[in-house]
Amino acid sequence: MSSDSKILIVGAHGMLGSTLQEAFSKYDVTAWDKEDIDIIDTNTVTSLISELNPDVIINAAAYTAVDDCETNQSVAMSVNGVGPTNLAKAAAEVDAVLIHYSTDYIFNGEKADGYEESFKDVDPVNAYGKSKAAGEEGIQEVAQEGDWDKYYIIRTAWLFGSHGNNFITTMLKLGREKDELSVVNDQHGSPTYTKDLAEQTVGMLNDELRYGVYHITNSGSCTWYEFAKEIFTQANVSVDLQPCATEEFPRPAKRPEYSILINTKLPQLQSWQDAVKEYLHTIESEGQ
Ligand SMILES: NC(=O)c1ccc[n+]([C@@H]2O[C@H](COP(=O)([O-])OP(=O)(O)OC[C@H]3O[C@@H](n4cnc5c(N)ncnc54)[C@H](OP(=O)(O)O)[C@@H]3O)[C@@H](O)[C@H]2O)c1
Repeated sequence: MSSDSKILIVGAHGMLGSTLQEAFSKYDVTAWDKEDIDIIDTNTVTSLISELNPDVIINAAAYTAVDDCETNQSVAMSVNGVGPTNLAKAAAEVDAVLIHYSTDYIFNGEKADGYEESFKDVDPVNAYGKSKAAGEEGIQEVAQEGDWDKYYIIRTAWLFGSHGNNFITTMLKLGREKDELSVVNDQHGSPTYTKDLAEQTVGMLNDELRYGVYHITNSGSCTWYEFAKEIFTQANVSVDLQPCATEEFPRPAKRPEYSILINTKLPQLQSWQDAVKEYLHTIESEGQ
């Protein structure tokens, strides 16, 4: 990627999209969200992208409300399945690189040693995961059908960062409001700081890595309970925190139990605990 590369960020107002705008601020960036481009509209996507003619398309747009996806399955499938496929077709037409973000929730979470990039048995346990798996498949099919293969599918997990509510902001709010809190201790994942993810995305493009599937999370893993405990310890919040089981908090969407993404291709990012420290420092200095 050269300094005058034209970069299109789609989903630019979301949590990750906003941080991507910051990470790519030295480049020629066009930032679009739903009001500029609806990724489910095939014709609009094709015409807007051929007019813009970007070198790189970064797709951070998605329908991310995991529980709502259960009741709005066709919307989830359109935004997370058809949308990325449309972007891949448009990328192929203008010969652009496509970067697309996917999720640990495409796996069933039954594999106790985690998932490498090459693990083929995609088996989502909820509608969100199914729709995200369809998005990956759509991009790969476009690549198989034509002579374009310039895509990176980046699977990530448990995002937190500026520009949006996330688990950390929710815990800090609850910690201020309640004396006692129960958090599930039987779902395992890798919390990931959007700033680290966005900066590694810039690095991947600069290093012109081989196209394909990548796993990017902060290093290490934990349960939601352990994540909450670390947040309260680091933020000096005193709350009676109790571990509990998922079945005590039934939610519309089932969650994978152990969806750790193993990264065998890229330099490891800082630990999730250090990332939490950096993020808390940032929100403190911003007065949040
Ligand atoms: N958040 C996580 O913990 C997590 C974990 C693993 C993977 N990921 C993946 O990481 C990526 C970024 O997630 P995020 O949490 O930053 O998402 P987010 O904050 O929900 O942002 C998504 C953005 O996409 C926009 N959008 C929705 N439908 C659209 C459409 N049809 N056309 C164009 N834009 C549309 C949304 O606009 P509106 O808000 O107006 O709908 C929003 O600005 C997604 O691919 C997600 O699946 C996220």
